[in-house]
Amino acid sequence: MMPEGITRADIFFTLLRVSLFSVTALLTAKLLMKHLDPTNKRKTYAAKTATDLLDRLGIKIAKQLTEYELMIANHLVDPQSITVSWDSIGGLGHVIQEIQETVILPIRRRELFSNSQLTQPPKGVLLHGPPGCGKTMIAKATAKEAGTNFINLDLSILTDKWYGESQKLASAVFSLAVKLQPCIIFIDEIDSFLRSRNVQDHEATAMMKAQFMTLWDGLNTDPGTTVIVMGATNRPHDLDKAILRRMPAIFHIPLPTLVQRKDILNLVMSGEPLADNVELSGIAANTEGFSGSDLKELCRNASLYRVRDYVANTQFCDKLKDRGINSNAIKLSEDQEEFHDTLRPITMDDLTKSLKKMRDAKVNTSTLTLD
Ligand SMILES: Nc1ncnc2c1ncn2[C@@H]1O[C@H](COP(=O)(O)OP(=O)(O)OP(=O)(O)O)[C@@H](O)[C@H]1O
Ligand SMILES: [Mg+2]
Repeated sequence: MMPEGITRADIFFTLLRVSLFSVTALLTAKLLMKHLDPTNKRKTYAAKTATDLLDRLGIKIAKQLTEYELMIANHLVDPQSITVSWDSIGGLGHVIQEIQETVILPIRRRELFSNSQLTQPPKGVLLHGPPGCGKTMIAKATAKEAGTNFINLDLSILTDKWYGESQKLASAVFSLAVKLQPCIIFIDEIDSFLRSRNVQDHEATAMMKAQFMTLWDGLNTDPGTTVIVMGATNRPHDLDKAILRRMPAIFHIPLPTLVQRKDILNLVMSGEPLADNVELSGIAANTEGFSGSDLKELCRNASLYRVRDYVANTQFCDKLKDRGINSNAIKLSEDQEEFHDTLRPITMDDLTKSLKKMRDAKVNTSTLTLD
């Protein structure tokens, strides 16, 4: 029984009005929430760039990823864009071979190793050693040559000022890696984030470290998961003991030995024009305590002397021209004559001068001690 004066049409229109009002309120609230979310702009941008990157890498799962996973996906490495390969690393053949055998091969040829628990790839790999000896280079070459997905995790992305965002991002690192497996998560300078926990740690940092370890352990629950966390540090003693335990495959990359220094010098100088008197073994013998990076700098410095000579030569000829003197009429040195319009090769003298300069600089900055 309907009350008098109220028709069916009245009820219908009232219901319609209520529904329309609810829908508008819902949409407005959603829109408001979206605009009030301080991370919205960043997330939208990250989603777009990540989708482009995934397309470029031929990975077709962008639609199945959450917004947090898309933010992490931005740190995927495109192997094509990396210029460092195994061949660009000098003197570390034994480390490279070991990484290939214990990490890369078990990932790429899983069928070969499936019947043994002991030959499974380790869940964590740590590269440690003094600065400038090739740790980051090895990681880059791994990204290029391993044939797996590779996330170069910049830890600053995990530290978000909004409560709860950091935790969601940390968990997205692992969930994304599992979706992309086989996958290597690389964390350079890992000590900066996963250093020993102490009472002075900020609550959020302590929580994230603990969460990171739990998520890492989660990888072990399914033996079929092929996700490896690879870290590099030059301060292994600062690392949390619990983290070290999770990185059973440890590779030490020390300062290069005499033979390794010779290999690095030969590699850096290959393709460079060298004078006949250059003897790289002599330089290798005098560079005890130099890192790969120092050796490269030594060669770069030596190479600059010839640029300096070229500039001085050109300025000298220009000056003669300004004074109306024909440079052919002047007696030039042998080198000046031969290389007056091109760069001369690097000489042993350049290398010795550069070595002395670097040695002095290293002694002054206390990165090298003299016996
Ligand atoms: N074994 C090597 N062969 C060729 N070049 C090398 C080698 N080691 C170092 N270098 C040179 O030194 C540079 C620095 O190396 P890399 O960044 O790998 O050092 P690192 O061990 O990661 O140092 P850090 O601990 O300071 O991060 C490289 O870009 C490369 O030019
Ligand atoms: Mg490094």
